[in-house]
Amino acid sequence: MRRTLAALFVVFASSLTALALESVPTGEYHARRVALSAQLNGGAALIFAADEAALDFDPYRQDEDFYYLTGWNEPGAALVIEAPAANNGKYREILFLPTRNLRLEKYTGIKLDAATPGATQRAGVDEVRPITELPAELDRITVGDSTHNLNPTAARLYAALDEPHTTAALDMLSASLGSHLPPAKDVRPLVMQLRMTKSPAELALLRKAGDASIATHRALFQAIKPGLSERSISGLIDYKLKENGCERPSYASIVGSGPNSTTLHYSANSRTMQDGDLVVIDAAGEYSMYASDITRTYPVNGHFTPRQREIYDIVLGAQNAARKAFVAGKSYMGGTLMRERNDPHNLDKVAFDYINSHGKDLHGEPLGKYFIHGLGHSVGIGVHDPYDYSKPFLPGSVFTIEPGIYIPEEGIGVRIEDVVYVDANGKLIDFQDSLPHTADEVETAMKPVH
Ligand code: GLY
Ligand code: MN
Ligand code: MN
Repeated sequence: MRRTLAALFVVFASSLTALALESVPTGEYHARRVALSAQLNGGAALIFAADEAALDFDPYRQDEDFYYLTGWNEPGAALVIEAPAANNGKYREILFLPTRNLRLEKYTGIKLDAATPGATQRAGVDEVRPITELPAELDRITVGDSTHNLNPTAARLYAALDEPHTTAALDMLSASLGSHLPPAKDVRPLVMQLRMTKSPAELALLRKAGDASIATHRALFQAIKPGLSERSISGLIDYKLKENGCERPSYASIVGSGPNSTTLHYSANSRTMQDGDLVVIDAAGEYSMYASDITRTYPVNGHFTPRQREIYDIVLGAQNAARKAFVAGKSYMGGTLMRERNDPHNLDKVAFDYINSHGKDLHGEPLGKYFIHGLGHSVGIGVHDPYDYSKPFLPGSVFTIEPGIYIPEEGIGVRIEDVVYVDANGKLIDFQDSLPHTADEVETAMKPVH
């Protein structure tokens, strides 16, 4: 019997390893859950895994907060975390797993459930239970809430309120209690506070996402040519990202040539690139659930025209101005709504001022009005990772610096985007240091290699 169980576990372990992503150490997920429990005001948190992808069209992607807290990459699970005050003074965490469905496993492959030997150890969560026991647990947590009758607005439960299973679970609870449950509070802002600072293990995965994306852009330098379709370039991007270990692109690749270079999130990628065009390529990969986000702007024939180069240099100058202005603990992203705020720590404003004071459009007007998006955003498990942008960047912050100028009248769009992080000494480090930045570097990289 023992031998059979051990053999079974080997089968599970190997089939799961084949699917496995690279992970931060298991203890780090545990530490995140404990850190979240300290933010629950003595209550409990409930988070569901993302649903199985519909129609087998997209591969499965876990709910980002669920992944951040567990590293678990399967559908049908739920996580409950109880602050000590909610459980007789003792911190508690339970991962609820769906019951195995042997028929479905013919399609999905073998899954681990709560009855699988070694499930708790494998999951790295203190308790693993069947999901059929979740309703009773929620009942216990909610009924035990001494504030429930006294103050119906003082909910003890924090949940991911945008998740359909949460609504269903709360409705079910209300019905079983025969009363209206105090509204649950949103757990996502609490998880966001933790996600805003990346650990060294997360930085290592972000670097791998960046490296795979750098290798991809390097292949593009040599591939881009007049007469080639934007779509074939986007196909090459997919191929190179996956060849370099990514699960997928971290967002729909943007390959915008000529007039399409001025459309910010152009993704039809249906035009044939012409001699004399610029092409904006905003493309990067997701590596073990961590994103990269890189844009380079290429002259399709390998040479910038003087006007294209002028605009390119201004965009690069704006990126460099923001880098130079950076001070850890003081600089913040700002964004288009804060462009009135004259403050050397407002990075968006620094980049905007640079663009607005260099060059002119065809009518002699300053170029600031063509910088039509914010300077950047946080990056992590999400390519647009949640972040409180009123807060300055600190060691462990990871964000993009991506100024752009888009002039439809001239068919010129230029964006340059790098992901940077703040190291332990407060220094800004560019994950894409080794990728060409200047117009000369881009032209050199595009020279045919014989
Ligand atoms: N690739 C999307 C963005 O740059 O925000
Ligand atoms: Mn971006
Ligand atoms: Mn981008």
